[in-house]
Amino acid sequence: MSGGRFITFEGIDGAGKSSHIEAVAAWLRARGQSVVVTREPGGTALAERLRELVLHTAMDGLTESLLVFAARRDHLRQCIEPALARGAAVLCDRFTDASFAYQGGGSGFSAEVLSTLEQWVQQGREPDLTIWFDLPPEMAAERRAAARSPDRFESQDRLFFERVRAAYAARAAQARARFVRIDAQPAPAQVWSQIEAALRARPWW
Ligand code: TYD
Repeated sequence: MSGGRFITFEGIDGAGKSSHIEAVAAWLRARGQSVVVTREPGGTALAERLRELVLHTAMDGLTESLLVFAARRDHLRQCIEPALARGAAVLCDRFTDASFAYQGGGSGFSAEVLSTLEQWVQQGREPDLTIWFDLPPEMAAERRAAARSPDRFESQDRLFFERVRAAYAARAAQARARFVRIDAQPAPAQVWSQIEAALRARPWW
C-alpha cells in the first residue's frame, strides 16, 4: 500500500472506545500492517503538555480551542504525517471531530472558528475512516462512574454530553463516507463485531 490510512475513534466519554483501539491494532498487525496508536490531545511531548493544561485548567472557549489545535498541529507534523508517509495505519484516539463535539457542541464555541482552525492546521488532511462509538449519555455516565476520577470534560452534566452527542451526529451526517456509527450499548463482543465489519468493508488491507 502506498501511503498509510488514518483512522480516528470518537464518542462521548465512557463509550468504551479505548479498549477497542487496541483490538483494531491487533487485527491490523495480524494482517501484516504496520500500526501507530496515538491520541489527542497528545501524541507528542509538546502536545501531551498541552493536554495536561486543557484537561485540568479552566479557560475560555477560544483559548481551549487554540490549545487543542496547537497540540494537533504538533501531533500532525511530528507523528501522524511521518507515520502515514511510511505507510503505517495511524489509529488516533480522538481528532478534530472531538473539537466540534466538545468545544463546539458541548461548550457552544463557534463552529465557524473551529472550521478555520481545522483548515489552517490540517491543510486538507482528513481521517480516512472515523469509528464513532455512540451511546446514550446516561449509560456513558454509568460506565464512567465505575472507572477513574473525572477530568474537566468528564465531570460535565448530562445536557453537556447530549450536546456533544448531537454534534457528533451532525458531523457524521456531513461526512457519511468517512464515518461509521457503532452502537456502543451492547456487550464488548457485539461492539467488536460491528467494528470488524467496518474494517472488512474497506478495501485497504
Ligand atoms: P479521552 O480520549 O476521553 O481521554 P481519556 O480516555 O484518557 O480520559 O480524551 C480526553 C478529553 O479531551 C475528552 O473528555 C474529550 C476532550 N477533547 C476535547 O475537548 N477536544 C478535542 O479536540 C479533543 C481531541 C479531546
